[in-house]
Formats: sequence, C-alpha cells, structure tokens
Amino acid sequence: MDVACLARRSPVRAAADPRALAVDVVDAVRREGRSLSQALPQAERKLDAGQPRALLRELAYGVLRYAPRLDVWLDALVTQPLRPRDAPVARIIQLGLYEMFFLSTPDYAAVNECVRLAGACGPPWAARLVNGVLRNARRRETELARLADSVDSARYAHPDWLIARLREDWPQAAGAVLDANLARAPMSLRVNRMQMDRDAYLERLRAAGIEAMAGRHGAECVILAEPVDVTSLPGFAEGWVSVQDEAAQLAAAVLEPMPGQRVLDACAAPGGKTAHVLERAGGEVELTAIEIDPARLVRVEETLARLGLKADLLAADAAQPESWWDGRPYDRILLDAPCSATGVIRRHPDIKLLRREADIEVLAARQFALLEALWPLLVPGGRLVYATCSSLREENERVVERFVPAQADAVEQPISADWGRAVTYGRQILPGEDGMDGFYYACLHKALT
Ligand SMILES: C[S@@+](CC[C@H](N)C(=O)[O-])C[C@H]1O[C@@H](n2cnc3c(N)ncnc32)[C@H](O)[C@@H]1O
Repeated sequence: MDVACLARRSPVRAAADPRALAVDVVDAVRREGRSLSQALPQAERKLDAGQPRALLRELAYGVLRYAPRLDVWLDALVTQPLRPRDAPVARIIQLGLYEMFFLSTPDYAAVNECVRLAGACGPPWAARLVNGVLRNARRRETELARLADSVDSARYAHPDWLIARLREDWPQAAGAVLDANLARAPMSLRVNRMQMDRDAYLERLRAAGIEAMAGRHGAECVILAEPVDVTSLPGFAEGWVSVQDEAAQLAAAVLEPMPGQRVLDACAAPGGKTAHVLERAGGEVELTAIEIDPARLVRVEETLARLGLKADLLAADAAQPESWWDGRPYDRILLDAPCSATGVIRRHPDIKLLRREADIEVLAARQFALLEALWPLLVPGGRLVYATCSSLREENERVVERFVPAQADAVEQPISADWGRAVTYGRQILPGEDGMDGFYYACLHKALT
C-alpha cells in the first residue's frame, strides 16, 4: 500500500487531504527514518493555497509525540500484528486513535475519515479493519487507560531505553523531564539588540495585538503567549527578531564575546547562536562560522543576511582544522556540538523514534573528538563554551569530565547563574525548567602559560 497515494487521491475532497498527508509524514519518519522537519514542510507544500496547515501539523506532531503509547494500544487492539508492508494501515488506525482520545474530534467523524482513507487505496480488508478497531477502541477505553498507566513506554510515550537513561541520569527529575517532553513548546524570540531593546519590541508586539512577556533568563528573550506565523511578527523581515528558545539564548551570555575579539562558531547551522554572538558584540567581533553540511551553511547565510550581520562562513569539518584554520588563535570558541537532541524532544518528537541507544556512545566520541581538535585553536587566556541540547550526562558532563583532566592547560570555570543546575562539570537545564528547552553548557578556560 502506497501511503503517498492517499494524499494524492482523496476521493472525498478535491483539495489535498490533511489526514492523508499526516499519515504520509508519520510514515516518512517511522519507515524511512526521515526527520519531521524535512517531511512536514514537503507535505505542507501539497496543501492547496489558502488551506489551513493547522490540522496537518497537529496530527503529524501529535501522532509522533504519542507514538510509543499508540503502538501499545494498537498491539492490544489488533488480534494479529499487521505485516510490515501494511504499516500505513497501522498509521491510519493510530491517527484515528489520536483524534478520538487526544483531540475533540467526535468518534464518528474520526472513524469515518480513517475508514475513507483506508478505502482510498488500501486493500479491501483495510477499511473494514480500521472501522472495527477504532469502534472497538472506544468500547475498550478503560483497558486502554489502564495500559497508559501501567506500561512505561505507553505512560511516558518514550522508548524504554530513553526512559531508563533519564531515570539513571536524573533519578529525582526523570518524571518531570518525560512529562515536559510531551508538552507543547512555547514560541520564544530573541530581540536583535543592534536594532532595538526588548521593552521597545514588547511594545510593538502589544500594538500588533500579540500577547508576550519578557523571558526570565535571556536578556533579549521574549516569550509569546501563543505561537504565531513569523510573517505576522513586527519587523521580522527587517531583522528585529529571531525565533530561538530561551535556553539556546544563554550561549552568547556564557561565551561573553567582546568587541575586537576573534570568535569561532564551530558547528554553526542554522546560525541562531552565530547571529546572537554577533548581535551581542554589536557586530564588532571577527567571527568564523564552520558548518560541515554545505546545504545547512546556506541557512546561516540567510539568517545573517536577514539580520544584516556579517561573518566568514566555511563549509568544513570542525574536527579537521588543518583543512581550514589560518593559524591565528581564537579568543572565544563556541562548540555547539551535534548531539542526540534529547533536550528538544518537545519540539521534535520524531527524535524519540529516530534515535537509538547505540547512537549516544557514538555521539559522545564525536563530541570529544571535536573538543580535542578545537582546543589548540584557543588563545591562552581564551574561553571555549561546550554546549549541547541533550539531557543525557554521557554527552554532556562526562565528555567534559574526560576532556579537562587530559589537558595540561584546561580549567573548567563553573557557570554562576540562576538557571539550570550545577553538575560535576558545567550546568544542565532540563527540559521544561523555567519553560526552557533542555540544554547543557560548560565553560572552559585556557590557562596562561
Ligand atoms: C546543534 S547544531 C548547531 C546549532 C547552531 N549552533 C545554532 O544555534 O543554530 C550542530 C550543527 O553541527 C553540524 N556539524 C556536525 N558535525 C560537524 C563537524 N564535524 N564540523 C562542523 N559542523 C558539524 C551539524 O550539521 C549541525 O548543523
């Protein structure tokens, strides 16, 4: 069964069908291993002009967010497991379950829509199965609720390995982290202080009828009461603001770039922190931004162009400085390392499905290698900030814990702040703390010799 055909040949409506497209997106993530941020925009482009995107987004995000619970429910509801090639039928059932149990869609509407989808291009038995399973689900509601309480992967809607890791790393906080990962993230903005101050921008938002408040920790942060399309933000095209979570906005403060300094942003795309570092230093730093993926480097270029900022952009491997470094040391290095992104699951629920436990060790080795490669580029007396958006100690303090004692000239400087928590090395923000994404920061100083 070709899921894409569901999106193309909806027999009920002439317009592209958001439910069929949502099934398509979930299938792209679960079967093809594509990311939600790649698959969803492609599906959105198939909607007709003027067709609202909200339903498609809600269904794609929601089904992926609760996928581990929906898997447990599906297993309980079907008498025989569906074959891998019938996965789209499973997705349709899970979409129906999500609408029935998480949204206010009336049962009859959810069932009818899903039966129609299955009938559109599935084998004849598919529509009958979808109809039977969804009607039965309502009758077996108490049993489903019991499963959602008693089976961990259903209760927390996370894979078992990640639940176990979080419990091991954060015995007291794991439950709150797992809950926060299921919540909807706020839309946070960073006001470009080269163009205007935060109070002035809050005033502009008020005038535009957009409710917002100042962030608690980020000096340039504004948090919207409800997400809006960026095009409706005052001055977005003119570079007054950028979209960035408050936790990510703390990188520039920890790095503390000073005018006149030479700064390296080693893993730069899409460029949120590159831009913030430049904004904070009033554009007065000489900044080199490295990104291994040339297509992603284009996004840094676009970000800087919108904000009217300048940096040297290089498509290169930060772990191989011999291929790009000119030999002049940097006063500041930001290593926002590639990581599991387990701190931003609430924004990217597909991470729970795409990551494997074995990835963590591989990532930690890569993070360590990047630190080792970049450390010689830092001037004595300079500062390197190591950051990840991971909630796992193996990628965070354990990397720094291994790195610092192995260097004769590396000193970890504790970050004194009223956000996150101090850990053995560095500072960890867990997802949802003060409304922020999960993030880790460590500040390393190079001793003067
Ligand atoms: C966490 S993201 C960086 C986010 C970025 N700092 C921001 O705030 O917008 C990590 C980035 O590092 C890039 N990357 C991964 N390995 C790299 C390497 N060896 N050298 C340079 N960039 C790398 C990835 O492609 C990805 O774009």
